[in-house]
Amino acid sequence: MQVTLDTRQTLTDPFLTVPPTPTMTMRGVCKGYGSGSSRIEVLTNINLNLRAGEFLTVVGFSGSGKTTFTKLLAGLEKPDAGTVLFEGQTVTGPGPERGLVFQNYSLLPWLTVRGNIALSVDRVFSNWTKGERRDHVERFIEMVGLKHAAHRRPHELSGGMRQRTSLARTLAMKPKVLLLDEPLSALDALTRSVMQDEILRIWEEEKQTCLMITNDVDEAIVVSDRIVALNPGPNASLGPMFTVDLKRPRDRTELNHDEFFKGLRNAVTNYLVAVRQKAREQVTSHAAAPRVQLPDLVPILSSRPSAMIYNRSAVHG
Ligand SMILES: Nc1ncnc2c1ncn2[C@@H]1O[C@H](COP(=O)(O)OP(=O)(O)OP(=O)(O)O)[C@@H](O)[C@H]1O
Ligand SMILES: [Mg+2]
Repeated sequence: MQVTLDTRQTLTDPFLTVPPTPTMTMRGVCKGYGSGSSRIEVLTNINLNLRAGEFLTVVGFSGSGKTTFTKLLAGLEKPDAGTVLFEGQTVTGPGPERGLVFQNYSLLPWLTVRGNIALSVDRVFSNWTKGERRDHVERFIEMVGLKHAAHRRPHELSGGMRQRTSLARTLAMKPKVLLLDEPLSALDALTRSVMQDEILRIWEEEKQTCLMITNDVDEAIVVSDRIVALNPGPNASLGPMFTVDLKRPRDRTELNHDEFFKGLRNAVTNYLVAVRQKAREQVTSHAAAPRVQLPDLVPILSSRPSAMIYNRSAVHG
């Protein structure tokens, strides 16, 4: 008897299809700082798969360990326990395939906006011609709206301008993975919205994988495929994963009237409020977690109509 293989079924059967290797993986990651009585345990047992091509957002409270989390992925910090993998290989240090936008900008003070961006571009694209590199730098200066300030040094820039320079520098390196540590926190609402759209455009165009830290739930929903909460520290662990199954591009005006959007923002926000309340209750008396009333999104840019559904799962993969 001849056995024929039904390739169509083989390819679509979830039990037979091998899932693709995640772009980045964190397995049982723990990280603390200091020693003895000044020791602080920041992150505990972090398990996460950052899937190829996805936009994942981590939301959490100030001081919970978000920057530490990003630095571990970037290879700027080493875990005390567990492993961080990039395409299946242990991360042992920083690499050009993982671009980090720092929360505190980290620009070189003696270089101009143009100089800061060019330094990175010259290093990563050393095989390009001088003209190609120059055009590339100019494109990203223009993209972040700093053409008029390209000759200025960091001390001559506002916080938002420094943040945009830092963002342009990382985006211009075209890393496979974008690690964005609250990259838009110093920007006004209009610029913030423009930059969200720019990040999304580049992420889609370059087919990058993106992990962004934010404390803004609305921003997380507008940009992400998935949102994961980082519980308050010390010993912060990841909370539930929320899937943002929402068509792109997303229309901010429409989202305000979308029941699923409202449900998702309430679910994420109420989770964060409840988990913080629980953390406080461990040191103070019991109190009920307040339900919060959120304002509408402020529509700044419009795009095509969209629909949205969401769901929750405890699996971070
Ligand atoms: N290099 C370090 N040495 C000692 N402690 C550190 C170090 N870096 C961070 N910490 C501590 O680890 C904890 C988490 O810091 P981290 O910067 O990761 O938090 P965060 O969530 O990014 O905060 P924020 O929202 O304010 O940016 C804090 O208590 C901080 O003081
Ligand atoms: Mg931080």
